[in-house]
Amino acid sequence: MHSSSIILAASFAAICQGYSTLRPIQKRQSSCPSVWTEVATDLQSSFVSDGTCTDAARQAIRLSFHDCFPGSCDGSIITANECTDRGENSQMTEICGTLGEKSTSFNVSNADLIQFAAAIGIASCDGGFTTSFYAGRTDTDTANPTGQMPGANINATALVSLFTSKGFTKTELVALSGAHTIGKQLNGSAMDTSVGKFDSGFYKSVSDGSANPINADKYMSNSSDTKTEWNSVGASQTSFQDAFVPAMEKMSLMGWDKADLTDCSDIISGFASGSLKQSSVVESGSSQGSTSSGDDATKTGSATRNGDVARGAILAFVSAVIISWI
Ligand SMILES: *[C@@H]1O[C@H](CO)[C@@H](O)[C@H](O)[C@H]1NC(C)=O
Ligand SMILES: *[C@@H]1O[C@H](CO)[C@@H](O)[C@H](O)[C@H]1NC(C)=O
Ligand SMILES: *[C@@H]1O[C@H](CO)[C@@H](O)[C@H](O)[C@H]1NC(C)=O
Ligand SMILES: *[C@@H]1O[C@H](CO)[C@@H](O)[C@H](O)[C@H]1NC(C)=O
Repeated sequence: MHSSSIILAASFAAICQGYSTLRPIQKRQSSCPSVWTEVATDLQSSFVSDGTCTDAARQAIRLSFHDCFPGSCDGSIITANECTDRGENSQMTEICGTLGEKSTSFNVSNADLIQFAAAIGIASCDGGFTTSFYAGRTDTDTANPTGQMPGANINATALVSLFTSKGFTKTELVALSGAHTIGKQLNGSAMDTSVGKFDSGFYKSVSDGSANPINADKYMSNSSDTKTEWNSVGASQTSFQDAFVPAMEKMSLMGWDKADLTDCSDIISGFASGSLKQSSVVESGSSQGSTSSGDDATKTGSATRNGDVARGAILAFVSAVIISWI
């Protein structure tokens, strides 16, 4: 109810502005609105627990892809009910509801909030990267086209052609798939051997069969189409980061020109370097054997922020959650 009246108000404002200027586009703000600091603090309580990201954060990361990839990052997964109307989004209805409410209470667009929550979600994970965030997207109540999302069993050839049709390279496809490093299957089982860590070990664990990935990821690791990219992106934490961060930015800007938006990336880096502990992730070469030392580091690090986190974490999300293509 609230969100539809906001949409109506926003469309009306756009129409009025259109009559006077013929250009119903928001003017770019020169500095990042301070509200994003408040939103980051708000999200932290449900996104961080025990030194890494929660299932709510997983949902938020996945949501960014599902809002953008069918067309543009326009909030329509919430504002045009794609979340409730489309099977591929059915595991994200809770985060859609939560972010929809927060968009109203913080007076920010759903389109921005979805991308912001994904960036905070990634930074919330142990070893998670600091990605960029640009603010200024407006919402639409027009749904994106249907039938655009890749399924979990899609092969590498079909994936490459789908991503190519959206302007993404093989390296970007493989890099974005690395978000499954913290992914869970629909039944809650981990897609990676170290699901609490945002680490490049994911790529190796898919290749060598130690993980329990979705078929699409397995196909990418073993197909001549993408095997080279799989191995090079997954070679180290640095190569993963170097590929993932720009690919994530590109995805988050689908439908938008960065020059029209306001750079709020400092909020993400401030969040990552503030209350979050430093990464305890090790390079992929030794990741399979690093479980115990990684766990120790997690325990040590989490002691510094458990206090902040415990207050809100319990509220989080109960349903089974996942990052998968479908
Ligand atoms: C919400 O933000 C818009 C700009 O995005 C502003 O015009 C409007 O006044 C704000 N509403 C409230 C209630 O603060
Ligand atoms: C990949 O999937 C497409 C679409 O389902 C199919 O046409 C093609 O034969 C498959 N390619 C391989 C190598 O299995
Ligand atoms: C969860 O689903 C995956 C994929 O279908 C399957 O490989 C795995 O064994 C399942 N795990 C459990 C605990 O049921
Ligand atoms: C490649 O991955 C697919 C999807 O999981 C699997 O069916 C196939 O057996 C794998 N091929 C090889 C050669 O490992």
